[in-house]
Amino acid sequence: MDRPIGMFDSGFGGLTVARALIDLLPAEHVVYIGDTGRYPYGPRPQAEVAGFARELAWSLVKEHDAKAIVVACNTASAAAIDELKDELPVPVIDVIEPGARALVDATRSGRAGVIGTVGTIGSGAYLRAVAAAGPHVHLTSAACPGFVEFVERGQTSGDEITVLAERLLSPVQDADVDALLLGCTHYPYLARVISDVMGPAVTLVSSADETAFVACTHLRELGLLREPTDEPVEHRFLSSGDIAWFTDLGRRLLGPELGAAERWQPAG
Ligand code: DGL
Repeated sequence: MDRPIGMFDSGFGGLTVARALIDLLPAEHVVYIGDTGRYPYGPRPQAEVAGFARELAWSLVKEHDAKAIVVACNTASAAAIDELKDELPVPVIDVIEPGARALVDATRSGRAGVIGTVGTIGSGAYLRAVAAAGPHVHLTSAACPGFVEFVERGQTSGDEITVLAERLLSPVQDADVDALLLGCTHYPYLARVISDVMGPAVTLVSSADETAFVACTHLRELGLLREPTDEPVEHRFLSSGDIAWFTDLGRRLLGPELGAAERWQPAG
């Protein structure tokens, strides 16, 4: 199956999922769209984010012949996963269920936390997913507005982020959680700061890694994995925003697989 896996996010965050997927499935072609021209998704109404998600997913299917779609964005998953699964002619893998399951596995005390964008936390998607995966787990949620913007500017450490993190993470600290899910694909880039604020007793769980594992298992079960051949693997990265910035920061965050980014033009 020589068709690529399609992935999208509002910007650079989904590159954490792309990194994990490329490492796990090195024979797979990947096409990634970062909608940096319209980020952040977190503060936008759900219906608007759902519209963006459908446009991106259909573009990956129609223009890039994607054999599966990985929704590498929690906010888009929370807003549109059911619609995407219903209407797309290919398998759709989201970040929320895999992350919720991993969180339930990680907590020992039964007090767990999730952080994400205002859209994701406000949707209640993690409350439902964790209740389904582990009804005994008590979940404390906290929205972290501002985190995504730091990552999109290429700033992943420093006093400013630490001060913001101390404030935004206080609900999950007060709840005495022993496991914290990074329920936004941008947040693994801030893991150092988040871990320093939460302390060493708290296990951080990344929805990026878990999603890559689920994608790998699912595609294998469906017989959709590409056999390794001598033909080179092709990774394409597209952005609706500044292409030079996407190439530059994207390569710093993802690694050398991100060659030169290409333009993706939204319809509207
Ligand atoms: N990376 C996206 C997520 O996982 C969010 C980014 C945004 O607010 O644009 O939710």
